[in-house]
Amino acid sequence: SATVAKATEAFQKGSPLLVHDAEDREGETDLIYPAQAVTPEAVSRLRNDAGGLICVALSHDVAQAFGLAYMDEIIDHPASEGHELGYDSRSSFSLTVNHRDTYTGITDDDRALTITELAHAASLADELDFADEFRAPGHVHLLRAAPGLLSERQGHTELGVALANAAELPPAVVVCEMLDDQTGGALSPDNARAYAERHDFPYLEGAQIIETLG
Ligand code: 5RP
Ligand code: ZN
Ligand code: CA
Ligand code: ZN
Repeated sequence: SATVAKATEAFQKGSPLLVHDAEDREGETDLIYPAQAVTPEAVSRLRNDAGGLICVALSHDVAQAFGLAYMDEIIDHPASEGHELGYDSRSSFSLTVNHRDTYTGITDDDRALTITELAHAASLADELDFADEFRAPGHVHLLRAAPGLLSERQGHTELGVALANAAELPPAVVVCEMLDDQTGGALSPDNARAYAERHDFPYLEGAQIIETLG
């Protein structure tokens, strides 16, 4: 669709997008940036305007090359058994990481460094030793896209990676849920759309992305 094409073009230039997955899934809108375009100011916007968890979604191939398994396979604790989610068959969580040149890892400067270095790493996945560059645990959550991308799972993880692929960017995108400061719940699609219009950021429905790129 023309809407998806226009959003992809803006994304390619570093603009964030707002993406609502589906009413019958999480029913959440994430603020999504290409990881390579993330500045400290962008991290500030993510934590102040979005307010959810700041994560970097990687393609399955990149996660595989770096040996980044799903968190539920890594954790050897009964709490990681039987992960029934109300909205999907599995969570896409992998490790949490910091770039080794960060100090605490949480500041806007530190998270922007970790995130941009993840984008750089994703563009060199076969040449780089992940553990040389990053340490775990850290302050940026990694997400691992399903091998079949949108044909297999339709979360923000896959929607974001599909948009990066369409924009011919490294398959590393930041996603963070937009929360409503009044209610503490997910920001409604109407309010997310209004935020997008105020800032001149594209707003997309998951279904539009799946239809065009799926
Ligand atoms: C991590 C999450 C978010 O929902 C994020 O959008 C990634 O998950 P999914 O691919 O399931 O939508 O839970 O904060
Ligand atoms: Zn979620
Ligand atoms: Ca806020
Ligand atoms: Zn989500």
